[in-house]
Amino acid sequence: MNKAVIGLQWGDEGKGKIVDFLSEDFDLVVRYQGGNNAGHTVIVNNNTYKLNLIPSGVIRGKKCFLGQGVVLDPNHFYTEYNQIRKKIDNPKVYLSSNISLILNYHKQLDIINESILNSEKKIGTTSKGIGPAYQDKVGRKSIKLYDLKSRYAIEEKLHSIKKFYDPILESFNESKINIEQTIEDLLSFYDLVKELIVDNSLIKKEYKNKKILFEGAQGALLDLDHGSYPFVTSSNTISSNIDIGSALQVDYKTVGIFKAYTTRVGNGPFPSELFNDIGDYIAEKGVEIGTVTKRKRRCGWLDLVSLKYSCEINRVKELCITKADVLNNLEEIKVCKSYNSKKYEDINFSESNILNSLSLDDGDFEVFQSWGEINDLDKFETLPNNLKNYITYIEDYLKIPIKIISLGPERNQTIIR
Ligand code: GDP
Ligand code: IMO
Ligand code: MG
Repeated sequence: MNKAVIGLQWGDEGKGKIVDFLSEDFDLVVRYQGGNNAGHTVIVNNNTYKLNLIPSGVIRGKKCFLGQGVVLDPNHFYTEYNQIRKKIDNPKVYLSSNISLILNYHKQLDIINESILNSEKKIGTTSKGIGPAYQDKVGRKSIKLYDLKSRYAIEEKLHSIKKFYDPILESFNESKINIEQTIEDLLSFYDLVKELIVDNSLIKKEYKNKKILFEGAQGALLDLDHGSYPFVTSSNTISSNIDIGSALQVDYKTVGIFKAYTTRVGNGPFPSELFNDIGDYIAEKGVEIGTVTKRKRRCGWLDLVSLKYSCEINRVKELCITKADVLNNLEEIKVCKSYNSKKYEDINFSESNILNSLSLDDGDFEVFQSWGEINDLDKFETLPNNLKNYITYIEDYLKIPIKIISLGPERNQTIIR
């Protein structure tokens, strides 16, 4: 059965590690949204791989496909591809010809957008040009990978892009769009990667009866429509975007992945956020530093209310919990089970976006006692009782089985039930 690994929180749940772990049994690993705002760190036998665009299946030599829902920064892609080529023999990476490109002016606009917002309204984007690139896609202006075959096609699009954006760039004292330079850069990029570019129909045909693993980027609470808008990313991160963003219409099972606590990088609501020593302790022990921007990630207790919501919107069939080892030896571990004593069913996430108005004081918490150290991570049965209680409580709350338990960054620190 095909599978999709989807983040259920605000990103950085450990998708990269689990996609690498699971990819052994799959033929093709596919990204369907986002860009190099994503940062996936995978550690295999003490080797660290940092991936932003290329799916983590690349580490096992699996074929990887970047679908049309991805936005691709040519410079970034080429650098990342070269870095992975130094570590992996002949990595197999394919790019949909229908991918929209991120150009320099998108990054300039990303920074301008943020600069005009008051401090409490700033999104805290990764400044990678993601929002403006998706704006151009929706606005039917994008330069697509397939355009790079023709100087004329690039030039024609760039002329109207320039007309539209130069007045804005100029008014913010930013450099204007340099058509000649952009064309030269794109043509040289095309020369370097043209062998990797494929039409969707080819991938569809080649992988018709093969096993496909979809790799989510970001998390459900950063979804453009379902997340904590406007503090979201500019793509649909949830599983229902797979058909659109991959152009592969296949059935799959959704594996929802979440950390044993919650983190968020960037601004926006975070009801169970900790502003105390415990939050700092978790950040340090969990090495909670953004891969892309090196910002410290905000940390808090596990929030089951929003987790339940994320499971629902992604039609999650099984769960993976990561990083419970980070909570080892904490005297008490808490999980948020309701907001203001309201049951999940009573909260209308989409209408009022309840997350925006909540803080730690509004949460009702279940408290668990320390499970100390984990000495044996061979199987679930031999884990400390208090950790087993923690995991079982979450399963009972969500009514979805936790099938994968990750207790360290390495492949062999993973329990399958
Ligand atoms: P992603 O964006 O969802 O792929 O997650 P990131 O790679 O940004 O962040 C997850 C971090 O936690 C990475 O540095 C992983 O190596 C690490 N990690 C993954 N699973 C575990 C785990 O179970 N325990 C610990 N301690 N670290 C983990
Ligand atoms: P992975 O795949 C965590 C956050 C940014 C910001 C918001 C919008 O590693 O889980 P953007 O640059 O996308 O317009 O920024 O989204 N963000 C992420 N946070 N993990 C990510 O990806 C993220 N990608 C974007 O910090 O708050
Ligand atoms: Mg990440």
